[in-house]
Amino acid sequence: MKESDIKNFWNRHPCGEEKVGGLEKWRDDYEQFFTEYDAFRYRTESHILRCLDRIDWNGKSTLEIGLGQGADSEQLIRRGANWSGLDLTPESILRVKTRFSLRQLPYRSIEQGSVLKIPYEADRFDVVFSHGVLHHVPDIERAQEEISRVLKPGGELIVMLYARWSLNYLLSIGLVRRLGLLGLYCAGMRPGGIFGQHLSNARSVGLGHYLRMENFIHKNTDGPWNPYSKVYDLKTVRKDFPKFRVVHSYKQFMHAPLLPVRWLPLQRLFGWHLWVHMRPESEG
Ligand SMILES: C[S@@+](CC[C@H](N)C(=O)[O-])C[C@H]1O[C@@H](n2cnc3c(N)ncnc32)[C@H](O)[C@@H]1O
Repeated sequence: MKESDIKNFWNRHPCGEEKVGGLEKWRDDYEQFFTEYDAFRYRTESHILRCLDRIDWNGKSTLEIGLGQGADSEQLIRRGANWSGLDLTPESILRVKTRFSLRQLPYRSIEQGSVLKIPYEADRFDVVFSHGVLHHVPDIERAQEEISRVLKPGGELIVMLYARWSLNYLLSIGLVRRLGLLGLYCAGMRPGGIFGQHLSNARSVGLGHYLRMENFIHKNTDGPWNPYSKVYDLKTVRKDFPKFRVVHSYKQFMHAPLLPVRWLPLQRLFGWHLWVHMRPESEG
């Protein structure tokens, strides 16, 4: 898979903006767009703020990788992080810089580039934070090597990865969506929008191939155009991050679209967001 395909996808679909109608809906009024986006994000994923509150950011030299709209970036800065950022796409960099400038938020640096070649020097950061990003990076082995290079000895990597043992993966994606697509396909229907795109994906690679979970997952986390996604459990984390050891992990967010699970208090078992805190393995 080419990184340019991944970059083009995220540049064309800036993370999560469709949930509030996209920047155009707000007539390019960035301030109003950010206000609406953040309100939606922290209303539907209120655990993010609680998780961030439990981490000591104050005065910590922090690199955030994969910025999206910069909502969490702002939260880290407001919690005292000495913040630097990195994103693959010009669109995200533009939005985050605009946010910081409108809201007069202090930061150290922001760079456009890839986690596969982090444009910062070795041993620079106390914390690397990456929320919802590394499961979209096929060459995860190289990514984690680069992260371990820029972390100071004794530093911490905090990531959110999609969880394999979640209702979303097991039931919503694994069962409901696959059956739904099969039904539409067999009925010969030709809907537009997202369902239409799934059908067109299925027709171009063959339905059986498309419905295999290792293929279907890519198109069912961040829309049917998304080139790459992976789900994680702790065993996979240990395998994919050999430079690190896991010190702490927890699941959050009852999210399984089409299923009414949002209010079930089962996130610790079946939540969709797996937060993992890791330390460099070499520390012993
Ligand atoms: C799903 S969004 C997550 C954004 C934000 N952290 C959030 O939680 O809303 C993924 C972001 O990671 C960026 N990204 C994807 N691959 C990357 C890579 N190889 N290096 C750096 N950033 C990357 C994308 O451009 C996009 O802004």
